[in-house]
Order: sequence, then C-alpha cells, then structure tokens
Amino acid sequence: APEEKLVVLIADKLSPAVESSLAKYCKVVSDPGLKGPALVAALEKVQPSILIVRSTEVTKEHLKAGHDLSLVIRAGAGVNTIDVAEASRRGIFVANCPGKNSIAVAELTIGHLINLDRRIADNVKDIREGKWNKKEYGKANGLCSRRLAVIGLGAIGTEVVTRALSFGMDVVGWNRDFSPQKAQKMGVIYADTIVDACRGADALTIHLALCPDTKDMINKDALSVLKDGALVINTARGGILNEKDMIEMIQKKHLRFGLDVMNNEPEATSKEFKDTAISSNPNIYVTHHIGASTEQAEEAVGEEVLNIVRDYTKKAHVPNC
Ligand code: MLT
Repeated sequence: APEEKLVVLIADKLSPAVESSLAKYCKVVSDPGLKGPALVAALEKVQPSILIVRSTEVTKEHLKAGHDLSLVIRAGAGVNTIDVAEASRRGIFVANCPGKNSIAVAELTIGHLINLDRRIADNVKDIREGKWNKKEYGKANGLCSRRLAVIGLGAIGTEVVTRALSFGMDVVGWNRDFSPQKAQKMGVIYADTIVDACRGADALTIHLALCPDTKDMINKDALSVLKDGALVINTARGGILNEKDMIEMIQKKHLRFGLDVMNNEPEATSKEFKDTAISSNPNIYVTHHIGASTEQAEEAVGEEVLNIVRDYTKKAHVPNC
C-alpha cells in the first residue's frame, strides 16, 4: 500500500507511544534535537513526506531541502516557528494541534497569577536560604474582586476566563472578533480595544497568537493604563509583549511580570539562560516555556498528530491546516 512507504521525520521529542503508533504504517526516522543545518542535512538524506516538530524552527532552507516534503506538523498550537508563507508557496501543508494544550497553558497562567500576587517563588527562595521574612510577604492584593484583563479569547483565553471567574475575579475581555453579546455569554465585561480592557485592571494576561499583526501589540499604551503595581502574564509568545516597554513600566508603574515566553528564548535543548536583564530583575518571574508541558497535554497533542497523519495518508486530507 502506498502509505507504507510514507517517510516521517520527527525532529523533536514526541511520546514513544506516538512514535510506535506511527511506525505501524509509516517509516519513522526520529532524531530529537535536530535543528538548523543538521535538520537541513537530515531532510536531504531522509527525504521525508512528513516532518513533525515541536519547538524546532522550520525555515526556507528546510522546506527547500525536503524535495518530497508535503506536510509539516507542529506538535503544538502556534505555527510561528514555521515559515508558513514559504510552505504554501511550495505547496507544503502546515498543520498544528490547536486546543490540545489549552488547559495546560491556562493552568500555568493561573499559577503565574497567584505567584505574582503571593510571591510564592520569593518565599520559597528565602526559606531555602534559611531566612524567615513573614513581614516582607504580608502585602498581597488577593485575587477575588480584582479586575483581570484577558487579551485573546481563543481556546486558551477561554480556559483562563473560566478559572478566573471561579476565583471571583472581574474579568474584562478583548478579542479581535468579539461583541457585547459574546462577552455576556462568557461572563466577561466587553472591551472594544486592548487599551480599554487594560484601563484600571489589576492584572493582565495575554493569549494571542504571534503574527505580524500582534507583534508588540501589548506595549506602553496598554501597560500604562493598568493600575500601579498591576500583574502581567505572558504565556503566549515572546514578541507580543514589547520587552523594552515592560522594563520601562516596571520602573514607572511598579508592574510585575510572569513570563513563560520571551523574545529571545534559549533553544529547547540549551542548558543556559543568558539574558541577565530579565533573570536579574526581581519584578520578572520566568518559567521555561513549559505551558504545554503536562502529561495530559502532551498525550492530547500526540493523539492529534496521529489523527493528522492518519487522515492525510488515508483521505489525503489535512486537518487543522
Ligand atoms: C505550543 O505552541 O503549543 C507550545 O508553545 C508548544 C511548545 O512547548 O513548544
């Protein structure tokens, strides 16, 4: 059968269960950590029809190197790491796994929110260093009745809204395609613009995809209308939050930031974090881009990858494309 000949190259770590399911009807070449020129060389050598990646960047050079390449699957939600324009120019499909890790990202967002308010990470650090600083930590604002602005109300933003409402927060929402009716249905206050959503809010959380339109979308304009000392969380993508404005607003408005993503993130396989302007700033709390990294989310994403490959091989149809 033609599908038996299908060659799949996996350039990131997927669950062994996904790889062995794929191996039943594809020739699977798995080399987690392949990137840059090594990935170009592997594409030239293996000539896969399907390339599966998670964090690995897929550039023009990669798409050019894979002469038989007809489908790139992103084992995640965003496709900003793939040159989609070049792929479509070459007639290569790009599929992703939207909605499969939304709960995981929403949970981490709430984790950041509580950490920013209660300074759990600082508490623990002090205790580990043998300090007892109860007075220092007696100033949290609390979340109930506080106003949270949620920017982006797709799958992840919606899960965040549900959780914030359950805490008794007043949630104000903004989405590109939004209306007062939709806002009412979700139980959120309608905002016409991002600045309106942010005006007077105690906290802000970002749930947009990164694309040319959303680059730097959360900048001084939005940050400067938040309450002084407001909490800002970005578990979406670096580049949406303007980091220069972030630093300025920390100084001017004492904002505090919880970030799972940044402009210049180390590679997934890197062991070092070198951006000291971020790591040494006591008002910025960074996690390692772990929003999607739960067992449940990785299983759901893995299943979706399998569905995409199955549909593609059996029905010549690409879901989520
Ligand atoms: C996603 O786009 O779903 C995540 O950012 C995946 C990842 O952890 O790289």
